[in-house]
Amino acid sequence: MQYITFNNNHTMPQMGLGVFRVENNDTAKEAVKHAIIKGYRSIDAALIYENEEMVGRGIQEGIAAAGIQRSDLFITSKLWLTHYGKDQVITGYETSLNNLGLDYLDLYLMHWPGTDNTLMIDTWHGMETLYNEGKVKNIGVSNFEIKHLESLKAHASIKPVINQVEFHPYLTQQSLRDYLTTEGIQMESWSPLMNAEILTDDTIQTIADEIGKTPAQVVIRWNIEHGVVTIPKSVTPHRIEENINVFNFSLTSDQIARIDALNEDKRIGPDPLTFNG
Ligand SMILES: NC(=O)c1ccc[n+]([C@@H]2O[C@H](COP(=O)([O-])OP(=O)(O)OC[C@H]3O[C@@H](n4cnc5c(N)ncnc54)[C@H](OP(=O)(O)O)[C@@H]3O)[C@@H](O)[C@H]2O)c1
Repeated sequence: MQYITFNNNHTMPQMGLGVFRVENNDTAKEAVKHAIIKGYRSIDAALIYENEEMVGRGIQEGIAAAGIQRSDLFITSKLWLTHYGKDQVITGYETSLNNLGLDYLDLYLMHWPGTDNTLMIDTWHGMETLYNEGKVKNIGVSNFEIKHLESLKAHASIKPVINQVEFHPYLTQQSLRDYLTTEGIQMESWSPLMNAEILTDDTIQTIADEIGKTPAQVVIRWNIEHGVVTIPKSVTPHRIEENINVFNFSLTSDQIARIDALNEDKRIGPDPLTFNG
């Protein structure tokens, strides 16, 4: 596994498992357990996915089966908008910890900026308190645009370590990526496979044929080449294995440029400027 380093010098695995739209039953437990056995060290959970209990069971069983420690894993969850406001953050955090059966998270994210700037800032102050009190290892944001990050910058005492946003070959987020690089904030991609839609793209399939890899491996490797943290979701054992098998090959600069050129600024998720839960 390859790791990236945050602006606070902590590290995070560059690839992990997403668990959105996975039912809170054995499917979630087995996917997480299988991933850990196969070498995943990062799991991307969220309160709103309503599956933290079984994700947590998968974490415990995965730790036992792989013979590793909790500290070998990097577990993320996210604060939902129902718990926004400085004093609510701790309740959201403790609910996720309780659901997951953990006593700390490696990363806690504000899931969306929301449309109320004052509430967004106030909530970030609650995140800062969690961090300052040592309850969480790292704090970050998700779905923040430059305008949200500029607003945080004006009011925050702690910079987010990461911004998790929609990113795939049809939404390459060049200006946001440039901004994050300048600010020292790590970029993380959600729906890196565009919820499987990108896997049938002609260019992706051609490059996959050229190098003898699958379309999913090409797209995940393209994330890695761009220095982005990526969390493809799968509940299918052979795909879980396929998706992490991206650290023994690389793409040429020409192949990266051909994938970059697919950008259409096309979102499959909500617009962060208007979404409010
Ligand atoms: N912060 C946010 O607002 C936000 C929003 C959306 C997502 N996320 C996070 O990002 C994670 C990933 O995004 P996502 O779940 O939306 O979509 P995704 O990872 O882009 O795509 C998942 C889909 O691709 C399929 N798939 C996975 N690997 C494959 C492979 N090797 N070959 C063929 N198909 C494959 C999966 O099928 P099977 O599972 O059936 O194998 C599933 O249908 C989420 O799970 C969540 O953790 C965050």
